[in-house]
Amino acid sequence: MCGIVGYTGNRQAAPILLDGLARLEYRGYDSAGLAVRDGDASVRVVKTKGRLRLLAEKTDDGRTLVGTVGIGHTRWATHGEPSELNAHPHVSGNIMDNGVTTDDSEVVGVHNGIIENFAELKTKLISNKYTFYSETDTEVAIKMVDYYYKKYKVGPIDALSKTMVRMRGSYALAVMFKDYPGEIYVARKDAPLIVGVTEGEGFVASDVPALLKYTRQVYYIDNLEMARIVPGEVTFYDLNGDTVKKESTTITWDVEAAEKGGYEHFMIKEIHEQPRALMDTFNSLVKEQKIDLTGAGLDDETIRGIERIHIVACGSAWHVGMASQYVIEDIANIPVRTELASEFRYRKLLLKPSDLVIIISQSGETADSLEALREAKAMGIRTLAIVNVVGSSIAREADNVIYTIAGPEIAVATTKAYSTQLLTMYLLTVQFAFVRGVIDEEQYQYYLSEIKTIPSKVERILENKERLQWFAAKFSAEKDAFFIGRGLDYAICLEGSLKMKEISYIHSEAYAAGELKHGTISLIEPGTLVIGVLTQKHLMEKTVSNLAECKSRGAYLMGLTSNGNYSLEDTADFTFYVPRVDEHFMGSLTVIPLQLMGYYLSISRGLDADKPRNLAKSVTVE
Ligand code: F6R
Repeated sequence: MCGIVGYTGNRQAAPILLDGLARLEYRGYDSAGLAVRDGDASVRVVKTKGRLRLLAEKTDDGRTLVGTVGIGHTRWATHGEPSELNAHPHVSGNIMDNGVTTDDSEVVGVHNGIIENFAELKTKLISNKYTFYSETDTEVAIKMVDYYYKKYKVGPIDALSKTMVRMRGSYALAVMFKDYPGEIYVARKDAPLIVGVTEGEGFVASDVPALLKYTRQVYYIDNLEMARIVPGEVTFYDLNGDTVKKESTTITWDVEAAEKGGYEHFMIKEIHEQPRALMDTFNSLVKEQKIDLTGAGLDDETIRGIERIHIVACGSAWHVGMASQYVIEDIANIPVRTELASEFRYRKLLLKPSDLVIIISQSGETADSLEALREAKAMGIRTLAIVNVVGSSIAREADNVIYTIAGPEIAVATTKAYSTQLLTMYLLTVQFAFVRGVIDEEQYQYYLSEIKTIPSKVERILENKERLQWFAAKFSAEKDAFFIGRGLDYAICLEGSLKMKEISYIHSEAYAAGELKHGTISLIEPGTLVIGVLTQKHLMEKTVSNLAECKSRGAYLMGLTSNGNYSLEDTADFTFYVPRVDEHFMGSLTVIPLQLMGYYLSISRGLDADKPRNLAKSVTVE
């Protein structure tokens, strides 16, 4: 997600920080900032919305920010829109009128991750006379450190550890204290942070590319650890404040590999980021075992008043809608129609004031989805956007917004955005069902606990990926493939088929299994690959029969099902099992092997999985 850099040594810090941030630019960001200290003078903070170039211009390439210690940050918005005020670094004191220079701040810091209980901590700080200038959870974290630092009159490490004990969520924090010039303190939980030390210098970064120019020897900070960095030296601490011994690791990757975290492509990196992205999205919407949609402006009365839902989107986001319609109708009893935005915007819309239009979009900029949103709004229909990019056009124009916390997605073919959109739709469904009295507290808690297991089950599937790699290599010369399933499984087939065709260029089609014999079955020849997705108990036997029909015409069958649910093995030539979760949510698990298969097919055909031909990440034309 966001990028962190830090430097302490004998050179001017700002140009080094700007250079480090530039090396993290590939991760995506919407604003950036630097904090630099000159000896024991007050820290100076400069921030901008937009590109790093603007930050460089504002500081004359770092020359106007004099000082040999500093921290820098590129922000990808999660709490609060992209703006100069919300950009990091944040300070414990008050923001000055002349931009963001501060002279009364004890603590200044940058943060990656999400502080889940930031609202509760903010209330505590406000009651202790702290004021806030931004909407960020980071400002809360920095002020929390300041609070403990002053209240207990302890050193930076103790103030940090007390804050860590109070904070829930994920964080990589880099902080400077007014009383400790020349020093940087860092803390970490579930967000990457590394330290490099050279003769007379110390470096901090959220990611390897920012450090490679200076050193290949890096220290990985582990969960719930802290470190103090001074020129030429680093000391590590555990949560009790005891020192920890740590060995450095030699980085052998080149810059390009480092940007991808050692993976060959962003797509496979993003596939592996899914457990984290799913957990972050879950935690952003579920507080103390309750789904909280108030941040999105969806109160109970509004939810009760909804009579029909229209889900409108493009591509994979539309596939999320296709899967969600089964889930919403089954769990919440609300009629749903899922439509392609490019169709919705030009047809006669028979919408009613009690309808809800849900627009799903990773980028928040897809032209057809944006126009569909405007059409619905013009008719006075409530619109809810499910978007990954904070402050994007769809997010700004919709009546209500829920953000997925997938982080920047760089590969053109979506993976983690799709998965977080689907999980968001589950939570929306369960909340709608509960508020409308369709499910009781026990069912509500059951569904919530099932959804919560998805990230770790995705992790388990990823551990098994070699079998799919082998399978993809075997079928890399394939010309056609068919995906078949019924109900929810059909919706997942749509996504599996798109993943395969868009990056491997193998022609593939997804069919509702019962539809094959109405025409398509004539395309099945000896050796044609047919992939069956079978997770819905009441439909399994029927899909197995449809697979058998293909087999008797010579097809090679792959079956994708859940552990212990049903044995496909007699019929299929190759069966892949995923763990089990409540049937409504199985799509979140079956889609993972299909993403992996698309990816492995693409690389076994020697293609660039990140940049498929003719495709753009954000489609801003109709
Ligand atoms: C496929 C893919 C596209 C997008 C579609 C919508 O892998 O990524 O089909 O899902 O272009 O884009 P967003 O979600 O940005 O509106």
